[in-house]
Amino acid sequence: MEELRVFYTGKNGKLTLLLKALQNLPKKEKIDAGKTLNVIKREIDQLFISKKQEIEDKVLNAKLIEEKIDISLPERPFHHGGIHPISKTLDELICILGNMGFEIKEGPHIEDEYNNFTALNIPESHPARQEHDTFYINKNSKLLRTHTSPVQIRVMSEKKLPIKIIAPGATYRCDDDSTHSPMFHQVEGLVVDKEVNMSDLKSIIIDLLKSFFQLENLPVRFRPSYFPFTEPSAEVDIGFSKKKGFIEIGKNDDWLEILGCGMVNIKVLENCGIDSKNYKGYAFGLGVERFAMLKYGINDLRMFYDNDLRWLKHYSFRPEGFPNIIRGLK
Ligand code: PHE
Repeated sequence: MEELRVFYTGKNGKLTLLLKALQNLPKKEKIDAGKTLNVIKREIDQLFISKKQEIEDKVLNAKLIEEKIDISLPERPFHHGGIHPISKTLDELICILGNMGFEIKEGPHIEDEYNNFTALNIPESHPARQEHDTFYINKNSKLLRTHTSPVQIRVMSEKKLPIKIIAPGATYRCDDDSTHSPMFHQVEGLVVDKEVNMSDLKSIIIDLLKSFFQLENLPVRFRPSYFPFTEPSAEVDIGFSKKKGFIEIGKNDDWLEILGCGMVNIKVLENCGIDSKNYKGYAFGLGVERFAMLKYGINDLRMFYDNDLRWLKHYSFRPEGFPNIIRGLK
């Protein structure tokens, strides 16, 4: 193409020479021939420009195709992060209780003695205070909450009745062995209304346990117990059997304690300014780690927090399809 261009419009090109020769013509012919030659020159120039563009486009397109990177393929195998079994268990519990109409409330992890103990009818001299192995933060009665029950106090003190809440979250106790971790999780439940009683509490707990373990015939037992903030109080057991060291939930050979509950102590209602003649309440508290261990066959509580990648890969869940209120647990 370049050769052709030089041949016609280069320094000594045919057209250039013709243009140069114009000066030898008489004036009138010069004007006519000049016009014609200029039209031809513009046409030739234009042809070269568009042909050049066409060739450049072709080259560029060929190059783009040749150098295309297929970004849809991973460069090397890579691993998804997984949902931690504690998160999964919390999601499941929240999903089930959310479906029952419980609203989620959260409280601070750094609490004061009043909300964590005193208002819950655990005065300073009470033995339950010692049992809680509390992490105290400073002398201003600040501490790491030892259970989620202080959220009960915070919610009841707002005095927006009726109340139907759950409070999931981390709790802390100065304890560390294969069945205790200094940080663990609870889900607290609280209902306060005009007409609530122990059988409402029982049916909610039984439904919750059957849904969580996905066992319609799960044996559930309510055993009288004691908590300063509930009266009467009960601990709830589920039936299990142990085969070759493995726990099988739903069998009736033995009982396993799984949560604490009861009717909110009148003193606690009154500490929060709720009229205990017109309002009653029930509450429950469960340990999330224990629920996770039982459902997913995890033996050592400490593994939850070791962040051992081999353990995490085995016990974590794929991030797709986590439980929610619409889809349910699967
Ligand atoms: N807060 C109690 C605990 O941590 C559990 C509980 C909550 C018991 C609510 C009764 C009612 O052990």
